[in-house]
Amino acid sequence: MAASDLQRLPGFRDFPPEDFGFRNRIFESWRRVALRYGFSEYDGPPLEPLDLYVEKSGDEIVEQLYGFTDKGGRDVALRPEMTPSLARILGARSRGMSKPIRWFSIPQLFRYERQQRGRLREHFQWNVDIVGEAGVAADAEVLAVGIDGLRDLGLTHADFVARVSDRRLLTSVLEAVGVREGALGAAFQIVDKVERDPHDRTIARLQEEAGLDEAAAVHLLETLEFGLEAVADRFGGRDDVGAKLEPLREYVELLGFMGLGDYVQVDLKIVRGLAYYTGIVFELFDRKGQLRAICGGGRYDRLLELVGGESLPAVGFGMGDVVLGELLTDRGLRPDTSKRIDYFVVSVTDDERRDALGIAQRLRARGHSVAYALRGQGVGKQLKAAGREGAIEALIVGPDELARGAVTARRLSDGTEREIRIEELD
Ligand code: HAM
Repeated sequence: MAASDLQRLPGFRDFPPEDFGFRNRIFESWRRVALRYGFSEYDGPPLEPLDLYVEKSGDEIVEQLYGFTDKGGRDVALRPEMTPSLARILGARSRGMSKPIRWFSIPQLFRYERQQRGRLREHFQWNVDIVGEAGVAADAEVLAVGIDGLRDLGLTHADFVARVSDRRLLTSVLEAVGVREGALGAAFQIVDKVERDPHDRTIARLQEEAGLDEAAAVHLLETLEFGLEAVADRFGGRDDVGAKLEPLREYVELLGFMGLGDYVQVDLKIVRGLAYYTGIVFELFDRKGQLRAICGGGRYDRLLELVGGESLPAVGFGMGDVVLGELLTDRGLRPDTSKRIDYFVVSVTDDERRDALGIAQRLRARGHSVAYALRGQGVGKQLKAAGREGAIEALIVGPDELARGAVTARRLSDGTEREIRIEELD
């Protein structure tokens, strides 16, 4: 087989240590923040029954499934998202659990997507969900976790924004401009693509697929550009729209109480591609608008029942590591992941090896990171190796010091030296 046949598959990543360090730094922030909000970590299998996704996630994801028939004849798929697994896991055990359930996970997910900036065929996704609470406070809490996850990595409201909407409000606005019930799904899909499709195409699709006349299509697109109060002015007099404004208003207000108002912008063009959302939805974007969504989520009150469990309201989000990694790199926030160890033990001659090994193990047993040359080398070479390993200090074990029961510790940053008694090393 030619070496070229053995290359990494397109859309998949290797993680050499510097990239693995970056990934770990992101995961650390995600975990720290989720724990700070009282969430518990869980996981599930990377391979699931294909049926878990068909009809529940929506066409786009189903088309992108890595699916196959296993050796037992089962139709299976690598998980493209975590939410159906969460619904399945809770479906089997939620009845006895106290509510609300706050769970988070960092699964690796697989989607056969066209590879482009910010989109790969595997990614890690921080999933944060609250299950069993229908009130809007749960929606606000979940978004606060997402915002804080990004703040923990050094990003601020100058870097990103949460665009928030409510599918129930959008539905009532669509109905108010004349979209009939049977065409709502099509209208959602058109609105979801509004920013990517040319204006004329959107107008044409609203006419052909959502049954609007041209004036109504133009009116709708103008309305979608408005903030909440302008929508209220235009449609609030209608009872159906007026009632649908309240949850979103309260949501924005709660986030304001949490000091997060600067991060939140109402935007009715946010629909979300997935089929199961039923209420408030949101996406986080970089402020410059150069990258794809960093995070997406919302309320999905019917999925748990659909997957066969207890009927429980739920709200959550998924935040991917790919776009986030690009944003952090663009903003100069990629952390220093170069190698660092506490000590490198240097034997001046082979006669000190035995003591050097003893010292290394003593320090490791006390929790320090320690390395040494694995074969006999001159002191100069060993000190160079200490520098390459990122050691803070070299511990030089020589015959004269050993005779005094001590070693010389040299700080590699400035070359200063001090003598330490071996029994005091800890
Ligand atoms: P999603 O919008 O499909 O939502 O994905 C959430 C985030 O995952 C996206 O904003 C993006 O950052 C990242 N992502 C998705 N696909 C890719 C890809 N091919 N390459 C790189 N990054 C990607 C969901 O998956 C929902 N299940 C989230 C959720 C949890 N809703 C409620 N709870």
